[in-house]
Parts: sequence; C-alpha cells; structure tokens
Amino acid sequence: MEIIIQKNSQQAADVGARIIRGLIAAKPDAVIGLATGSTPVSMYQRLIEMDLDWSQVTTFNLDEYIGLPKEHPQTYHSFMWENLFNHINIDPAKVHIPDGNAEDIPAHCSAYEKAIADAGGIDLQVLGIGSDGHIGFNEPTSSLASRTRIKTLTERTVQDNARFFSSAEEVPRHVITMGIGTIMEARTNLLLAFGDNKADAVAGMVEGPITANNPATVLQMHPSVKVCLDEAAAMKLERADYYRWVYEGKPEWQRDR
Ligand code: PGA
Repeated sequence: MEIIIQKNSQQAADVGARIIRGLIAAKPDAVIGLATGSTPVSMYQRLIEMDLDWSQVTTFNLDEYIGLPKEHPQTYHSFMWENLFNHINIDPAKVHIPDGNAEDIPAHCSAYEKAIADAGGIDLQVLGIGSDGHIGFNEPTSSLASRTRIKTLTERTVQDNARFFSSAEEVPRHVITMGIGTIMEARTNLLLAFGDNKADAVAGMVEGPITANNPATVLQMHPSVKVCLDEAAAMKLERADYYRWVYEGKPEWQRDR
C-alpha cells in the first residue's frame, strides 16, 4: 500500500484527483469505479475544476440503497449526478450505478458483475472506508471473496449515515454493494479517508492483521492500493513517519501515478 498523508483533507483530495487525471490522460477510455459519501465530494469538485475529457470514460458505482425511489435526494444515483456527472462531459450510457429498485435484485447483481467484466474490468476503484472498516457496503464479517450482492447495514453504519436523512429510521437497512472480491479485481484501488473517526479503521487496514472484522484490511493483499489521508485519519498509524518519508522521497515523475 502507498500511504499518502497530507496536511488536510483538501490536499489529500487533490492528490486523488491528480491520480485520476493521470489515468484519464494515459487511458482516455478508462473504466473507473466510483464511491459516494462525504469523503469523495472534494475530490469530485477538483475533478470538475480540472475540466477533463470524460467522454470515453466508463464508470461503475460501488453501491446503492435498496428501495429508495431513484430520484430521492439520498440515493447514490442522485448523489453522483449532483456531485459529479452533471458537471462533466460523461456519456450517460457509460454510467453504471446499481439499481436499488430492480425487480430481481440477485439477477441485477449478476448482470452488474457481467457488465464490469464486459467493460474490461475496473482500472481504478475509488473507495471510502466506514468507521467500522467497511469498503463499499461490505460490513464486518463480509466474505473477503464476495461479489456484488444484497447486504444489511450495521447499526453503526445506519447511525453514521443518519446525518443525510431526517432520522436514522429513514436510512434503508438494505443495500446492493460490489463485493470485496469485485473490489479486489480492480487494477488499482484509491482509498480516501478523512477525520479522526476513521483513524482506528485506517490503522487496522494498513497495519493490522487481515480480518473480515475490518474488511478494508483485505487491501493488504492487493498489489496496487493508494491511500490518501489527512492528518486526523492518519493519527493512529504507528509507521506514519515512514510513510511520509517514502512519499516525500518520491521522484517528481512518479508522483501522481
Ligand atoms: P463517508 O462514508 O465518506 O460518508 O464517511 C465512507 C463509507 O462509508 O465508505
């Protein structure tokens, strides 16, 4: 894992945006996996400001709530259009977000996996991390080999996400999420984490033993993971000074790769 610790979340988001810019420059028809939540918003803002050519890019989102009407402001469909897609020249036909209202959800999940494979696989997957270590909505004890499927959220995640709704009761309990096995097949994973409520999950992910109790720890088995952190999210890392030393010593030509 490459651990990139920046002074604040905006600088960490800028690093993430530059990595995506580099990918699109090198591969204009890249397949990019996207995430929702508070964390990626500032990176999406930077990407919008960069005015990149997204016309050939294909995207696959990680997850979606089950049962909210598609146009509900808290669906991840609404989130993505509001925070990114409405502001870039992406082809709507190349946008994929799980459909939380699909009639046959297991069949929809299989079709989602097939669509990813048909697109040639994901070049770069953007990830956040839950305070409980979830990636996508793969909650603790998820199979580390799981594929896109239905999951039930933990009470902690429902509470974490209640801030987007008028009450915790309104947060859907069920979601569709790419599996951990799906995420592990992305060629690169780009994980962003900001704030002290992520510090334990991040420390476990980077320096703890691999365990389904902190699903993000599985990324230790992935050959290409970049982790962009602010100081608060990095505060429990024992080897933080080493990660800083490595990043500071990176040759300029290697920086945004
Ligand atoms: P957040 O969510 O960015 O809103 O903190 C991250 C996640 O749950 O993966």
